Amino acid sequence: SVIRLEDYKPFSHPVSTVHLTFHLDPEATRVRAEIAFGVGTGDLRLDGVDLDLLSATIDGVPVTPICDEDGLTVAAADLPDGPFTWVAETRIDPARNTTLEGLYHRRDLFITQCEAEGFRRITYFPDRPDVMAVYTVRIEGDMPVLLSNGDLTGSGPGWAEWHDPWRKPSYLFALVAGDLRSVEDSFTTMSGRDVTLKIWVRDGDRGRCAYAMDALKRAMKWDEDTYGLEYDLDLFQIVAVDDFNAGAMENKGLNVFNSKYVLASPETATDADFDGVESVIAHEYFHNWTGNRITCRDWFQLSLKEGLTVFRDQCFSADMRSAPVKRIEDVLRLRAGQFREDAGPLAHPVRPESYVEINNFYTATVYEKGAELIRMLREIVGQDAYDAALKLYFERHDGQACTIEDWLSVFQDATGHDLSQFRRWYHQAGTPRLTVEDRFEEGETILTFRQTTPPTPGQPDKQPVPIPIRWGLLDDKGEVANGMFLLSEAEQEVRVKTAARTVPSVLRGFSAPVILEQKGQPGDAGVRLARDTDAFNRWEAGRTLALDVLAGDGDPAPWLDGVCAVLNDQTLDPALRALILSLPTQEGIAQEIALRDETVDPDLVHVRHQSLEEALTSRLGADAMRISRAIRPTGDYSPDGQAPGQRALANRLLSLAARRETDLAREALAQASNMTDRLAALAPLIRAGQAEAELAAFHAEWSGTDLVIDKWFAMQTSLAPAHEALDVAQRLQNHEDFTWTVPNRFRALVGGLISNTAAFHRADGAGYVWLADWLLKVDKRNPMLAARMSAAFETWRRYDEGRQKLILDQLERIASADGLSRDTGEMVGRMRARA
Ligand code: ARG
Ligand code: ZN
Repeated sequence: SVIRLEDYKPFSHPVSTVHLTFHLDPEATRVRAEIAFGVGTGDLRLDGVDLDLLSATIDGVPVTPICDEDGLTVAAADLPDGPFTWVAETRIDPARNTTLEGLYHRRDLFITQCEAEGFRRITYFPDRPDVMAVYTVRIEGDMPVLLSNGDLTGSGPGWAEWHDPWRKPSYLFALVAGDLRSVEDSFTTMSGRDVTLKIWVRDGDRGRCAYAMDALKRAMKWDEDTYGLEYDLDLFQIVAVDDFNAGAMENKGLNVFNSKYVLASPETATDADFDGVESVIAHEYFHNWTGNRITCRDWFQLSLKEGLTVFRDQCFSADMRSAPVKRIEDVLRLRAGQFREDAGPLAHPVRPESYVEINNFYTATVYEKGAELIRMLREIVGQDAYDAALKLYFERHDGQACTIEDWLSVFQDATGHDLSQFRRWYHQAGTPRLTVEDRFEEGETILTFRQTTPPTPGQPDKQPVPIPIRWGLLDDKGEVANGMFLLSEAEQEVRVKTAARTVPSVLRGFSAPVILEQKGQPGDAGVRLARDTDAFNRWEAGRTLALDVLAGDGDPAPWLDGVCAVLNDQTLDPALRALILSLPTQEGIAQEIALRDETVDPDLVHVRHQSLEEALTSRLGADAMRISRAIRPTGDYSPDGQAPGQRALANRLLSLAARRETDLAREALAQASNMTDRLAALAPLIRAGQAEAELAAFHAEWSGTDLVIDKWFAMQTSLAPAHEALDVAQRLQNHEDFTWTVPNRFRALVGGLISNTAAFHRADGAGYVWLADWLLKVDKRNPMLAARMSAAFETWRRYDEGRQKLILDQLERIASADGLSRDTGEMVGRMRARA
């Protein structure tokens, strides 16, 4: 059934306290829940899924509620008039809970994941974020470590008691129990509170926690310095687990992480992995205020916490390293995930209006586009007004469950800006198209901006949105003017006095999440690439020139000339040079072709991509290896500072040079002393189909280190030559290390193949059948994982009729499968719907 925003009603009865007692047992855990309800109206309806109700009492008197698939009801007539205490005992089976929601038992660990609706798999409860309570938890079990939210108030052999003084919704509840070891540190907050920090991992993994701990302390300090926000308990704990559907979870005082975002050492993690650890650690920590202290009224408001928290973690990472490089990486991610989503059948607004399964809305739109909306708000009102608005937000709404309306009212009240039009950004799906035309007339450069947003499912007509456009004008000496223009109508002009025609540089820093089409002069992108003062637009100009070749039939010379000049510019950050020297992905090229209303031919995209790589390799000749060797950092590995950018450039050049001479990659592999360089050296060998011995050696060396073996699977399916990759995947799925029931391993192999665009989109449809087989299998165990992976099919409309039909056949086969989950059922239904 469909849940609608317009049907929102507050819960019937207030809750003040919750006492939980767990008797842990893998197959038969007993949970006693004592809930203090206040005076309410009507029946008492509690959510509950897969629970065995052993007993229930109200004020000590046994009651017999009416139980169904999703919960239970106690009729109003059976409820006391005043406040009352509900006590229920339930039995659950964590070992057989394969959904990885609620309480589950894997590899001797008890783990919870309650967001969004997992708590109802633990006990009967009003499992919705606007019901907040103070929790006390007693855990009984024979494991050495028994953890929950808040502060430890007592413990002994086989038991521990926890108390969380902060009112919280049930989705922030957490429990972890098992044989874990901790790494400890401390942080003193700005008001002098001494906070103990603990990261819990398996025995043997303690040596890979240092970077996560350091990132945590930097995040805590940054939130104080930037937002004046301080941690509010004496203990902050993180647990790393190997079996997890998401990246991490911000449970109050007890964050649970996918081990991928905690464990990192130079030998096992790449520079990108270190970045990921830093930003996810920060993201979850930042949720303590944006999410936990101020939470969401209902799940339609998810972006209230996620958009804002992503924006905060993006700013944190930008402050820790190069801000322009971070911005380019964020935009790459936005385009790859969110623009793709917005252009297809799964498009939805940042604040959706209805859903069947809320897990299907933890999307790039809610997260990444949501973050862009906050960034635009800051752009529109300015940094000082943004700071004032955030101050008011925490003053006014601390302790509350809020809506996006509340958020916008705060902004309006604090800054005096009328944000009524800005609201459309939250309600309208689809990526706006912005065009800019320029002309020079009577001493003026005139920029004409136009916007339209194409229809999306359920939203045929779109209205103009306010688009902050940062712009500059370039002449042959440099920049002659710059400014910020807020485009609020369908068409508007900006006039600037200039001596002659200038080259416009618009949407600097990607100041709005729109698709820009520039109707300039042929040489303009080359000028921007050579000397724009905005680093983002320099990179963007290179991308524009590359896409002219890759998505159309443009001349490669301007791109080659431009990027080679950039490569040799020693004053430019090597990380930025590496990005400018990279081609758009095949997915990026396909998006661009679809935008031009042309049919995407994945084989042709692949060929064009290869030939531009080849052209760059020829152009660079011996320079590629010469510069690669000169720039590669020597000495001890560091994930911070200049070294990662230097490695990125060195490895980009290696990947080009090794196209001609795979021995260069073998040499680099022999010299590699960290995982970044190793993977970079292995990649050309895998692409060339010459990595057999190297892959075997890699496997032998890392057997048992799960996160590294995940890489071993992923690199083979993602990099194998397109015509072989599916065979490789089918061979690897029979490997003894392939456990499809572990999400990280499944995503490594299957996600790897999907990212190998030409392989997945093989014209005979074998890739589609293979994925559908997997989705059907995984859906029976872990619907959230299957549903998420099914989005690989969302681009079906881009392709030729043959491929469209092949994909639709698979979507139909999935849709008609017996016992299909609500999660995957909703996804497939939306993808098949006629637009
Ligand atoms: N709130 C978590 C985060 O953003 C993610 C939770 C994912 N849950 C889900 N049902 N998909 O850090
Ligand atoms: Zn989050």
